[in-house]
Amino acid sequence: MSDGATARGSATEREEARKTAEGLEHLSGFGNEHSSEAVPGALPVGRNSPQRAPLGLYAEQLSGSAFTEPRAVNRRSWLYRIRPSAAHPAFTRTGNGALRSAPFTQTVPDPNRLRWNPLPAPAEGTDFLAGLWTLGGNGDVTQRSGMAVHLYHADASMRRVFSDADGELLIVPERGGLLLRTEFGLLHVEPGHIALIPRGVRFRVELLDETARGYVCENYGAPFRLPDLGPIGANGLANARDFRAPVAAYEDVEGPVEVVNKFCGNLWAATYDHSPLDVVAWHGNHVPYAYDLRRFNVMGTISYDHPDPSIFTVLTSPSDSPGLAGVDFVVFAPRWLVGEDTFRPPYFHRNVMSEYMGLIEGAYDAKTAGEGGFVPGGGSLHNMMSAHGPDRETFDRASAAELKPQKIDDGLAFMFETRWPVSLTPQAARAEHLQQGYDDVWQGLERHFRPLH
Ligand SMILES: [Fe+2]
Repeated sequence: MSDGATARGSATEREEARKTAEGLEHLSGFGNEHSSEAVPGALPVGRNSPQRAPLGLYAEQLSGSAFTEPRAVNRRSWLYRIRPSAAHPAFTRTGNGALRSAPFTQTVPDPNRLRWNPLPAPAEGTDFLAGLWTLGGNGDVTQRSGMAVHLYHADASMRRVFSDADGELLIVPERGGLLLRTEFGLLHVEPGHIALIPRGVRFRVELLDETARGYVCENYGAPFRLPDLGPIGANGLANARDFRAPVAAYEDVEGPVEVVNKFCGNLWAATYDHSPLDVVAWHGNHVPYAYDLRRFNVMGTISYDHPDPSIFTVLTSPSDSPGLAGVDFVVFAPRWLVGEDTFRPPYFHRNVMSEYMGLIEGAYDAKTAGEGGFVPGGGSLHNMMSAHGPDRETFDRASAAELKPQKIDDGLAFMFETRWPVSLTPQAARAEHLQQGYDDVWQGLERHFRPLH
């Protein structure tokens, strides 16, 4: 075994993790009151906090909402664990790496359209946490509002445990499968899936392939929920039953474990004398979950015009104004285009909302692929009111295309769409992988205007 293999973890470890990942069971549903026990009898019956919890476990509540929030949005889980979370030494500051948090005030907000190539390869031995690289965001972690856009590129499994007090983490893998070991149990995601780790939940990311790359939306605001469906009816878009929550699984590990906590923008670390992933049973609705984006029930026109992309919303984090999301997560999944007398790719657009787009695989139907283009692992930012839309080649092609039914089946793109402009971190504004000349995409759009008189 080379030194590199030691730093990254061995192929055998990855194989073991993959075997575990592929044999997992799960609970199904979104926002339900789940319950699960890894050992029969570990979950108390009829009460949350008996005088003595079963099997000598400690009972602990994890509150994801204020106690008093309306029932429809109230979130909490009860955990039955080997040791209470309170049994830990003091946390001390540790380096933030390339992870940054709101408020983002170190650069002048940029009205330009921007696009990045994928993150460069990480230094050997980089785990998911060390591999997080913040592009930018908005809001303020101390106000629990706004969001951050991170990317990650890792080549090693985490040996440590992480939790984020600042927000929930929506993980969008683009390359490499992940095994997420959480307090609630294990989740398996591959590129094309998403995973969500709720605020404050401890977890560790193990790699199932040699490298892992992807995107993370850190949502400081209200937890993501399924959007209302209005006239669509009771079914469609992301169906609740397709979300996977873990079944209880615990580590009974004594010995030093590094635990890192992100709190108000900084990382703090402590060395526990046991693994905090020691929850033997739990119940509640503040739980991690995963979802396969290919299960998204895509809707669109069967008459004319390109509907607004809000129809592709998977998850939404509402703000204090009805219909105005702190951040939406939107997917552009394989679908049929059948609109008559319709310019079928996304239209030219200026938007009060700010749009960060990423590409999981294939190509996006408003941008031609190719070197230096919109490529998997890359991303584009169209900030508030910036003008964007199809590139010239796409416009010319789609304007002349014969409008027969057409399947778009070679791409999986997504968008984090937020009500506030996205300010960049200095590292994103000055990144070598920031493309120069993205504006050229819209050059050469010819004048076609011919007044009749
Ligand atoms: Fe747009």
